[in-house]
Amino acid sequence: MPIKARDIISTAEMDKDDVDEILEKSDVMLSHLKSGDVPQILKGKILATIFFEPSTRTRLSFTSAMQRLGGSVLGFSSTEGTSVKKGESFEDTVRMVDSYSDIIVIRHPEPHSSRIAAQIARNPVINGGDGANHHPTQGLMDLFTIKKEKGLGDTRVALCGDLKFGRTTHSLIYLLGMYGLETTLVSPESLRMPKEIIRDVEKKFGVRMREEKRLDEAVKNVDVLYVTRIQKERFLDINDYGKLAGSYRVDLKLLEHAKKGMIVMHPLPRVSEIATEVDSTPFAKYFDHAAYGVPVRMALLSLLLGKI
Ligand code: NCD
Repeated sequence: MPIKARDIISTAEMDKDDVDEILEKSDVMLSHLKSGDVPQILKGKILATIFFEPSTRTRLSFTSAMQRLGGSVLGFSSTEGTSVKKGESFEDTVRMVDSYSDIIVIRHPEPHSSRIAAQIARNPVINGGDGANHHPTQGLMDLFTIKKEKGLGDTRVALCGDLKFGRTTHSLIYLLGMYGLETTLVSPESLRMPKEIIRDVEKKFGVRMREEKRLDEAVKNVDVLYVTRIQKERFLDINDYGKLAGSYRVDLKLLEHAKKGMIVMHPLPRVSEIATEVDSTPFAKYFDHAAYGVPVRMALLSLLLGKI
């Protein structure tokens, strides 16, 4: 198998050879998409997408990726209408779906649920987001976007917003550390990146993460501003969310301070953290960013299903 891991659960356990291979393969898939001639290498294969939490991009871009490669897709986008509503256990659901498909993408509110699924399933399991923990395929498409738009040389990146609950940032920070990209973490005090993650990345890759509270300071020095949504659904007390909503807003006024050529990325959905007035400026890369999800997921599906 080209990538050593059979399952894609967390970027913390990926090695650079694997990630290099995924980036390379994503580029190949991007050229196939551009030429309009995509080899039907996954014909006859079935992807199951089982989503216990809302999703637009992750589920649809995996579906698109599988269908572009000639495969087909089954699954559910909420537990409404499934036997989970009758009380079927998570374990039984996974076991069944595993027997109906060749590979599973799962999204679930519980951290580590995809690892449990991977232990049960015979076929590969991809984590499409497990609570506030990880979202590895988003991290990989984030890295691919940075590579395509700014390169992976001496690019400086700021991760901004909800770094405590934002699972995409937990996955991306490992990849930034792996490629030695200088990283600044910008968040309100109560939404800082968990210390264990910072320590782990610093130790693994011999890098140092900076922390900064002021976004107007951070934008002066970075090439990539990665903005995230405050993760309302993870707050136990909605009043705490209310106090933090709107902590940072990226608008034209803020961008007056930005380094020339800086790009703004966002895993989406955005709520109010990026003003729509930014959309038509050269800073805005968040929609291109979302579009890169398809070639990256095509690469992952083909590598995990053993088809080059
Ligand atoms: C993210 C997620 O689900 O973690 N969305 C996505 O997959 N593109 C980010 C978010 O919901 O804020």
